[in-house]
Amino acid sequence: MKALDDLLTQETFSDADIVRLLGLTDPADCKRLRRAAYDLTTRLIGDLVHYRGIIEFSNRCTLNCRYCGIRRDNRDLERYDLSREEIIESAIWAAENHYGSVCLQAGERRDEPFIALVEDCIREIRARTVSDTLPEGASITLSLGEQSPETYRRWREAGGKTECMRYLLRMETSNPELFAWLHPDGFAHEKAYESRIQALADLRAAGFQVGTGGMIGLPGQTLADLCADIRFYQRLDADMLGMGPYILSGGGDLLDAGMMESGPLLQLALNMLAVCRLVLRDVNIAAATALQALAEDGREQGIAHGCNIIMPNITPRPVRKRYQLYDNKPCIDEEPTDCRACLEGRIQRMGRRVGWNQWGCSRHFRRR
Ligand code: 5AD
Ligand code: FES
Repeated sequence: MKALDDLLTQETFSDADIVRLLGLTDPADCKRLRRAAYDLTTRLIGDLVHYRGIIEFSNRCTLNCRYCGIRRDNRDLERYDLSREEIIESAIWAAENHYGSVCLQAGERRDEPFIALVEDCIREIRARTVSDTLPEGASITLSLGEQSPETYRRWREAGGKTECMRYLLRMETSNPELFAWLHPDGFAHEKAYESRIQALADLRAAGFQVGTGGMIGLPGQTLADLCADIRFYQRLDADMLGMGPYILSGGGDLLDAGMMESGPLLQLALNMLAVCRLVLRDVNIAAATALQALAEDGREQGIAHGCNIIMPNITPRPVRKRYQLYDNKPCIDEEPTDCRACLEGRIQRMGRRVGWNQWGCSRHFRRR
């Protein structure tokens, strides 16, 4: 077998290499993987970590994804919608606090009032976040599920400049059987898997920076599945990745399914982040908030394993507890200002700096 250190300096990897790296458990080996991913990140991308302030503006959802705490059939949840002004004000707060970028996330809906609201918010946020420190306004990431090509086009155009608009649509898993089981009633269920892939192609065609990703440690998921996920991200030529451990949700529908222990699950998730960095090189990779549901320093560990993006929660505090996709979600009782300072400390402790007032575009996207 190849020496681990030789493997870690490769630029291309076989499936067998990827599976081997994903499955590392020996602490010394894991540390070498971590170092390799961290060093490649700072070499290719630099030492800045960029913020995307996430605004979770509604927990209404038309879907019933088994893993998710805000799925339609969870009746133990009070539903909320932030108003147009609340959404825009949150984004303005972010820009005034030197965040170069915001992310609008909500449950999945395709009705016209929703589509028009988002379009309007994009336009207002782009116009009203312009300042001396952010002369081009904030860039925007949308995380609003599968929509029609026409909706994608409207939202993209509302943002103006191409480079400032991004869309995050996780594949969740590239394994079609697992995907079908997790999504019991996606739109046109029998075509749900193909429909997700089509949506990712539509986003590319609409001109977004395209982000995808998945959950790690899903019941029944194997290392070969995770390797196939990485190959999927490669084929898609993704610009950005958002990936995190699967965490049980009381409001979900997977209660009796096999869960990994939290220690090995965290290590697997960190290995996956590191291997994605080594294989996909210059893409933006977010340190998922779900990492911090497993360990207090989960997001720092994500940075140590090759992440270069953090998504501080800037949702107004009163509604935060109603947007729990999974249990033990951190920062539920914090004010946006708390997270801003707390995360900066976390980033500096990792020897990195926050890229204030910058969009932090994916290098991979800029190279196209
Ligand atoms: N554990 C971890 N991540 C989850 N997500 C949804 N539910 C869970 C969970 N129980 C992730 C999905 C989704 C993103 C918004 O949150 O990957 O795409
Ligand atoms: Fe929210 Fe630390 S990130 S309190």
